[in-house]
Amino acid sequence: MPTDLPELLFPKKSQPDIESFPCGLGKQLQLTIKQVCGSLPITKHEIKLELKVSKNPSLIMSNKSIGLDSKLYNYLLSVSLREPEILQQLRQETANHPYANMQIAPEQGQFMALLVQLLGAKKTIEVGTFTGYSALAVALALPPNGQVIACDVSAEFTAIARRYWQLAGVDGKIDLRLAPALETLDELLANELAGSFDFAFIDADKENYQAYYERCLKLVRVGGLIAVDNVLWDGQVADNNIQDSSTISIRDFNYQLHNDRRVTISLIPIADGLTLALKH
Ligand SMILES: C[S@@+](CC[C@H](N)C(=O)[O-])C[C@H]1O[C@@H](n2cnc3c(N)ncnc32)[C@H](O)[C@@H]1O
Repeated sequence: MPTDLPELLFPKKSQPDIESFPCGLGKQLQLTIKQVCGSLPITKHEIKLELKVSKNPSLIMSNKSIGLDSKLYNYLLSVSLREPEILQQLRQETANHPYANMQIAPEQGQFMALLVQLLGAKKTIEVGTFTGYSALAVALALPPNGQVIACDVSAEFTAIARRYWQLAGVDGKIDLRLAPALETLDELLANELAGSFDFAFIDADKENYQAYYERCLKLVRVGGLIAVDNVLWDGQVADNNIQDSSTISIRDFNYQLHNDRRVTISLIPIADGLTLALKH
């Protein structure tokens, strides 16, 4: 909430309740201002808003849990987040990156670490690494002989990741494969590693979600878990006016997974939506 609005308009006793909603390219920013006090019309005052919108619609996504207002979200973090210092530092550094919104939310990293512990996981795959937050969160939760095969195409993004993995002392657990993830997953299958992984996390280009899922389903063992990120896509999946290729792919993926009896599923509304699929 802005702090420099005229007190006359918003006396301290009766603070305005301003809510903002995420907006994508070509959409209007919506602001709801409740309890405007006094008789001065709001148009007599200048309210400055800074709006940051990514130029690439496929990169617009939330990296904090959606559907919660800031007050409740901050409360959630204040009573539950136990983020190791090294992850905090990586999050701070990534915050200045032009694609910072691609990073998973800290409460999601913590949730994934819990899942990995719950599974007793040793071997894991990650599709989409960026600056390395999710891989680091998982690697820290793995036993000393644990492994993350991390797939990404960007040497630039993952140079930051490598630096933090090293600082955290988990670089030995993370095997970064710089290639299109479909090639890496096919190579793992060709090397007869089907059924040998405990956990897979899918968080790369949305158009390939179904193809990543099918490969990961082969690669994880029975009782292994696949976690798929951004399945709520900032709410855009539920808006039929939005028909870009990423949104359509996630919508199709969600639809097909709902009917996929090879797995037990749950869609968790954490961060930008995380679907869990347990292999039968
Ligand atoms: C949403 S970000 C991943 C965020 C990451 N999980 C984290 O916690 O910060 C998506 C990543 O997928 C990578 N990517 C995009 N297309 C890819 C492809 N075909 N194969 C492998 N990686 C790809 C991008 O370079 C980007 O780093």
